[in-house]
This record gives sequence, structure tokens and C-alpha cells, in this order.
Amino acid sequence: MKAKKYFAAAAGAALAISLAACSGEGAGSEEESTTGATTGTESTESSAPSEGGLVGVAMPTQTSERWIADGDAVKAGLEEAGYEVDLQFANDDIPTQGQQVDQMITNGAEALIIAAIDGTALASQLDAAAAAGIPVISYDRLIRDSENVDFYVTFDNYQVGVQQATSLLVGLGVLDKDGNETGETGPFNVELFAGSPDDNNATFFWNGAIDTLQPYLDAGTLVVPSGQTDFEQAAILRWQQETAQKRMEDLLTGTYVGTDMTVDGVLSPYDGLSRGIITALQNNGYEGTVTDGFPAVSGQDAEIASVKLIADDVQFATIFKDTRKLAAQAITATEAYLEGTEPEANNTTDYDNGVKVVPSFLLESDIVYADNIESLLVDSGYWTAEEVASGVAE
Ligand code: BGC
Repeated sequence: MKAKKYFAAAAGAALAISLAACSGEGAGSEEESTTGATTGTESTESSAPSEGGLVGVAMPTQTSERWIADGDAVKAGLEEAGYEVDLQFANDDIPTQGQQVDQMITNGAEALIIAAIDGTALASQLDAAAAAGIPVISYDRLIRDSENVDFYVTFDNYQVGVQQATSLLVGLGVLDKDGNETGETGPFNVELFAGSPDDNNATFFWNGAIDTLQPYLDAGTLVVPSGQTDFEQAAILRWQQETAQKRMEDLLTGTYVGTDMTVDGVLSPYDGLSRGIITALQNNGYEGTVTDGFPAVSGQDAEIASVKLIADDVQFATIFKDTRKLAAQAITATEAYLEGTEPEANNTTDYDNGVKVVPSFLLESDIVYADNIESLLVDSGYWTAEEVASGVAE
């Protein structure tokens, strides 16, 4: 048993209240975004009663809304449940994140919730955590190459990739929104992007997407004119928008410009990359809406700028992963450990971190198209109608 302390059952009731409170909170709640963005570090002193002890929460970056929303939701929920929270963002800098986790351990954290920048870079911190009996919950991204990861909360990442590819096929008109083939056989010119190679999720997204696209590539319905079909060629280090824009520009210059070929669609695994790709396409003369022939670009995270682009029919789709549900799951797991029990897993086979299969709790995601923005994102309180209209989080 790793938990060092046992806590009152009242924490469970407090948690229920906190989750209800969290669920009304939008993804763009940016309380932290202005305070920590410039330094990349942020300590959060809790005013809530801290009889539950200190929990360290390490998030990768504030450059993407989702991680701000994740951090906010985890912090709020834990504080409601009576814990003190040390929330840190690391500006996507690996040494910074290592130092932050070291500091949490030094400060006496009773549990750690970590969304790693580089899934392989935290081994020494995890050894120290294990030595101190601190349970470690890997948040959204699997921490690799360490025995000392106790639990993993995430979405079904392979399925996210399937959904990304499905949305691309819908955008091209090969599938309808129910997933049925329309009989459309193209051929369509597509280019493929993958996420950061040091993020374990990137391979899951890619595998789900490629398994879905492969029959259409084999049949010639889809063609990749650049020939860049390997993960290594498609990967974008640290999920950087500018890198994706540059790669798309290079693909256009190297393969399309000066020919009569045009791009029909792009597999993109994250909204930030999607916006870089869209900018590159627009800079190269592609214009208008998807309905008018602008290439169909997929995405992930339902970032507000992309949701507006989808509403405007410029980006075709994104994948909605409700960070409030993920935060709630992380809190449930943390409480289980700190109450001396094991959290409930719903997957004990798929997430091998190189040393062991980490018991996992997987959540489901949804494809967002223009016509279900309201039902998925607005009605659930994730974004307001005003935010969708402006493309800016309030
Ligand atoms: C997350 C995605 C996110 C990406 C870039 C991945 O690990 O699962 O939701 O788009 O990182 O931040």
C-alpha cells in the first residue's frame, strides 16, 4: 500500500459537490493563463481547508487551452475535496517539468498527477516518488519506461485516431456522418500529420487513423502525393503550430506547386497543428470554405479558435475530449489512493509503458462537425455561444 494517509469519508461527498461545480466550468476558464504564461511556472496556494494533504499537479504547457482547462478543473475539484494543490505548468520545457515534480516531492506531496511533456523523461522523479510512497497518476499521456506509474487516466486514444480519420473521410465525401460509404472513390490527394514523437498518445492517434485510412489508400481512393506516409515523416515535435505550418508549406512547394494537383484533405491530430496547416494552405492560394472546395482538415481538442473555424466551414472537424470528465477521473483515482484503496480501471491491457501494463481508465471522445457544435459544446457548457461566435475564450 503506497498511500501514506487515510482520509475522512466526507471527502467523497465533497468530491461529488466539486464535480458538479466543475461541470459548469468552460474549457476556456483562464484564471491561470495570464499569471503563469510568461514564467512557465506557477504555484497555487490554496485557501481551502487542506486536511486532505498536498497533491502535486504537473501540466505541460499553457500554450494550449486544453491543459489550462485540465489544470483548472483538477485543482478546483481537489480543493473542493479538501486537498491543497500545487499546480504547475512547464512551458513545454522538459527540465522545467522535472524540477517542478522534484519540488512537489520535496514539498511533501501526498500524490502526484502528471501530464508529461516527454513521456520518458521523468524516471528519476518517479523513483523518488516511489521511495517516498507517493502514488503517481499519469494524466492523459502515459509516462513510459518506469515501474513507478500507478494509474493512467486518459481517453481511448486509438479511438481518437479512428475518429480523426473518419472525420477526414466524411470531409472528403467518402463516408457520410453515420460512417457509411457513399460510393465516392476519388482519387483524393491527402497529406498526413502526426503528433509529437515523445508523446505516447501520438502513436495511438496515428495507428487509429492509419488503420482507418489504409483500406482507402490501398484501393486508391486516397493518394498521398508527397509519399510521406511514415510516422517519423509526419510527426511534429512538441505539437508546435509553426512547425506544422512550415511542413505544410514545404509539402506544397515540394509536391504541388507548379503541377495541376491540389490538396483535398489533411489528417491533423491537434487543432493547433490544424490552424498552422490551414494558414499554410491559405498562404498558398487555397481559399473559401470546405463546401466550396477548401481542403478538409481534421483536428483534436475543440480549441475555441478551431471551433469557430469549424462553425465558419474552414476547418472541417475536431475531436472533443471533455477535460472536465478527465479531471474528475484523476480526482477519483487520487482519492482512492489516499483513502488506501485502488482506483477502478476499465482497461488493463492496452497501455504498456515499456516496463509494465499500467491500469487505465479510458474515456470516450466525440467528433465535432459544424452541425453538432451546439449540442456537444454549447449545451454541455464547455463553450458559450458567444465564445464560439468570437473564437475567443472569455
Ligand atoms: C493530448 C491531446 C493534445 C496534444 C497536444 C496529447 O497528448 O492527448 O489532447 O492535442 O497532446 O497538446
